[in-house]
Amino acid sequence: MSGFDPITRNRLRLWLRSERAFGLHSVRAVPEADVVAPAVAATRVVRMEAPMAKRGIAPFPMAAVELPLAAPPVASPFDAPALGRGQKVVQLKLMDDGEVSLCTRCRLHSTRTHTVFGEGNPEARIFFIGEGPGENEDLSGRPFVGRAGQLLDKMIGGMGLKRDDVYIANIVKCRPPNNRVPALDEVQTCTPYLVRQLEIIRPQVIVTLGRPSANYMLGTKLAMNRMRGVWHAWRGIKLMPTFHPSYVLRSYTEEVRAAVWSDLKKVLVELGIPVPGGRSS
Ligand code: URA
Repeated sequence: MSGFDPITRNRLRLWLRSERAFGLHSVRAVPEADVVAPAVAATRVVRMEAPMAKRGIAPFPMAAVELPLAAPPVASPFDAPALGRGQKVVQLKLMDDGEVSLCTRCRLHSTRTHTVFGEGNPEARIFFIGEGPGENEDLSGRPFVGRAGQLLDKMIGGMGLKRDDVYIANIVKCRPPNNRVPALDEVQTCTPYLVRQLEIIRPQVIVTLGRPSANYMLGTKLAMNRMRGVWHAWRGIKLMPTFHPSYVLRSYTEEVRAAVWSDLKKVLVELGIPVPGGRSS
């Protein structure tokens, strides 16, 4: 990236970091004057002005970048040293304001009111993953603020924690119309954002809420009862699937509530956090 001024270099680096999650691993920046052919055999040329202008960012002083078609794998960001709190806040904000809120990568963008990035403690030890925003979340831009959110707050409170202690996000950042389950291609398109949130925050435990998020994170099609209540792992992070609060509201039985509490207690025990009311309650 030599040959560019520091601001452009930094913008280019941020852009490349975001694209990496979508499968792009390197670019060769080509000054305007050198761009002669729209594409060559081993590369595809993408124009950068349009997306950058859409994001309200001045275009780079170049016409195009050449993207290698067969990108070499990169080391997992989990290999890198963990970020400090301030860096996490900045990176999450950059991703939210500069990418997610402007995202048009899948059809869900066309019916959304707001994107719902996720929120919580950037240093959270527990990261809850839901399915997708509902109506209240779409209107407010915040995750889990409707009835299911109120129950999630109660679940977190029952753990002796506050909402600010944890991080909450979804597998898709835009509301699926009529609250339908997100389609596979929508999940595949959107989840690189979630993965980057996880890479930035690096929680100690992930709690998936409901089947779609557990299925995505674990790469299975298993039913909830085959997944919940036992420890799994995602990239070395312990993962506990439990029922979605909306399901608990629909099936408000002693049995379902006891199952959720049992799952959440396992999380507390794993993290060495005292279980309110004792381990056996
Ligand atoms: N249900 C979800 O899965 N996520 C939300 O943010 C709200 C409801």
